[in-house]
Amino acid sequence: MSIYQEIILEHYKNPHNFGTIKNPSKRSSIFNPLCGDKIELEAIFKKGKVEKIKFRAQGCAISQASASILTDHVLGRIKEDLKKLDKDFMIKLLGIELGPNRIKCALLPLEALHKLIT
Ligand code: FES
Repeated sequence: MSIYQEIILEHYKNPHNFGTIKNPSKRSSIFNPLCGDKIELEAIFKKGKVEKIKFRAQGCAISQASASILTDHVLGRIKEDLKKLDKDFMIKLLGIELGPNRIKCALLPLEALHKLIT
């Protein structure tokens, strides 16, 4: 197993930023109709920055691990910068090659993030 696969497995088993926020500034959710999986995000924004972010997920290991890794990455960052994050960024962040089906799983949290910051 590569170091990246181990990191993904670790985030899946012990997700960071999992849960809910009382009185969030915004919520978003996204659903993958192909598999029925869902990611929900909640955040508190202060001065255009992500002060707090939490997620809940019903989904596969890749989607949950990528939500955990992505929420770690976005904490403390400016909303405007987060709008630029794309598929290539997610691939780099996760560090593993994913086939066309699995890449959808990895992008689900990013789609939820884009909904959150619009
Ligand atoms: Fe549904 Fe991965 S199989 S998001």
